[in-house]
Amino acid sequence: MSLSFTLERRPDPAGEQRRAEILADPGFGVHFTDHMASATWTRGEDWHDGRIHPYGPITIMPSAAVLHYAQEIFEGLKAYRHEDGSVWSFRPEANAERMQRSARRLALPELPTDDFLASLKALVEVDQAWVPAYGTGETSLYLRPFMYASEAFLGVRPAAEVTYSVIASPAGAYFSGGLKPVTLWISQHFARAGAGGTGAAKTGGNYASSLAGQLEGIEHGCDQAVFLDSATQTYIEELGGMNLFLVTDDHRLVTPELTGTILEGVTRSSILELAKDLGLEPEERRVPIEEWQEGVRDGSIREIFACGTAAVVTPVGELRWEGGSAPSTAGDEGGEVTRAIRTALLDVQYGRAEDTHGWLTRL
Ligand code: COI
Repeated sequence: MSLSFTLERRPDPAGEQRRAEILADPGFGVHFTDHMASATWTRGEDWHDGRIHPYGPITIMPSAAVLHYAQEIFEGLKAYRHEDGSVWSFRPEANAERMQRSARRLALPELPTDDFLASLKALVEVDQAWVPAYGTGETSLYLRPFMYASEAFLGVRPAAEVTYSVIASPAGAYFSGGLKPVTLWISQHFARAGAGGTGAAKTGGNYASSLAGQLEGIEHGCDQAVFLDSATQTYIEELGGMNLFLVTDDHRLVTPELTGTILEGVTRSSILELAKDLGLEPEERRVPIEEWQEGVRDGSIREIFACGTAAVVTPVGELRWEGGSAPSTAGDEGGEVTRAIRTALLDVQYGRAEDTHGWLTRL
């Protein structure tokens, strides 16, 4: 039976003026709407108790399994306001399906796609005043569904009680520098994921494991770290929160293939589709880091960019590592192809271009 969401309205929602102040400069991930969605799964009972309720602290036991064994997964997608005032999301079914794959890997229960979509619709309906107006730059309502082992039990086994929630956060650009290229550090001491591990799942542990590499990058004056395959330290994987693309001088758009250790980005797969519309040849394969280091020098690599739901498409500039660096090809605002892909994606998301791929779902 599909989940329905009862509504418990917040008695003290943010006033119109406070909301307007936040929406005028939302930043990323710092402000939250008045409500959240939740549902519970109990072994033997399936999903139940769907509800929309005031956003606020949650209560779990100190023994809740998630706090000890990190049995947790999450998603990230956005709601966009179109010019006619309607609100749309971008490929939410792809997020629902990825969450199901992540759930299988983390031994969590799968949430059916219809229930996932129903939770987003119910939350956005009650908090629709929080979706930024059309034409206010790259602003949207970032939706963060997540699921965790809430059972109070210290034995190591899949939890018998699991909580699913969605919170929503008005969002501007992920990187405050706008299109300013990010500088990357090759993480040589820390891998993000290994063969047979959880690298392809959207689970908090992968992000936790990327932090030491990120810190090392920051210590070397970089914005982000790029992770290589853990077995040979030869092939490019991803940034920990974003996938990577290289644009070649002969119009190929190259990205690391999905080997099980890379997150299957929805933006990544959308860009591979859009590439064909833009006359580029998409190529998924193993990409040696040397190809980048040498390609930006000999001109065979023209542009590099990172992508993800939060960051959309972000130009990548200089690459640094212990004892060396490769120059930026990105100028001050990224290359021509990077900007064309970014515009093509945003135009579909904000309803400015025809949705020829059928990617938009009305919330
Ligand atoms: C997203 O792009 O939605 C993510 O989950 C990545 C994170 C860096 C915010």
